[in-house]
Amino acid sequence: MGAGLSFVHQYVPGAAPGAPTLLLLHGTGGDEHDMLPLVQHLMPGAGALSPRGKVLERGMPRYFRRLAEGVFDLDDLRVRAQELADFVGAAAAEYRFDPTRVVGVGLSNGANVASAVLLLRPGVLAGAVLFRAMVPLVPETEPTLSDTHVLISNARNDPFVSAAESERLAAMLRAAGADVTLAWQAGGHNLTQGDITTARTWLHERFALD
Ligand code: MLT
Repeated sequence: MGAGLSFVHQYVPGAAPGAPTLLLLHGTGGDEHDMLPLVQHLMPGAGALSPRGKVLERGMPRYFRRLAEGVFDLDDLRVRAQELADFVGAAAAEYRFDPTRVVGVGLSNGANVASAVLLLRPGVLAGAVLFRAMVPLVPETEPTLSDTHVLISNARNDPFVSAAESERLAAMLRAAGADVTLAWQAGGHNLTQGDITTARTWLHERFALD
């Protein structure tokens, strides 16, 4: 099923027709299987759509090209974010999940492409959980993100994402009208138990299962 969809992916239906679908977006070097176990910890009963990034960097899948650590190929990012947004819509039609209840859950490179989708294609994601997120790009036109909920879960000792950049991303999304929570974890670039606990509570407060 879903062979016509443009990303290699996994899809797991939600427990009920109105359940949110978590769009799972892995970090650099991950694949479509990596984030699936998180669903049980974050929101059991939610659906899951988990695409594999199409760009390969020395064999490691990513969602868009980068020129160096933290330096993104912005032309590629714009195209790839649009492609991912289109994929979400096509997958909703194919698998018949509610396209208005899709919540991105991304780690690092996955968080960055989720932010790019929020900024370039408002309305595709009802919200997003962004673990270790950077500012992916500055859109030419400020999007309208009212009714969009975003959790940024970043870490104080992340060698790749500064506190200032985390605050800048939060400010950009807030300026566009999003409801943004910026949570700070102990630790570095890797996911921690604190991220999971924070995201679980946040998801249940904003996207209760119907
Ligand atoms: C990564 O390792 O994936 C980076 O820190 C984030 C990115 O390149 O998007």
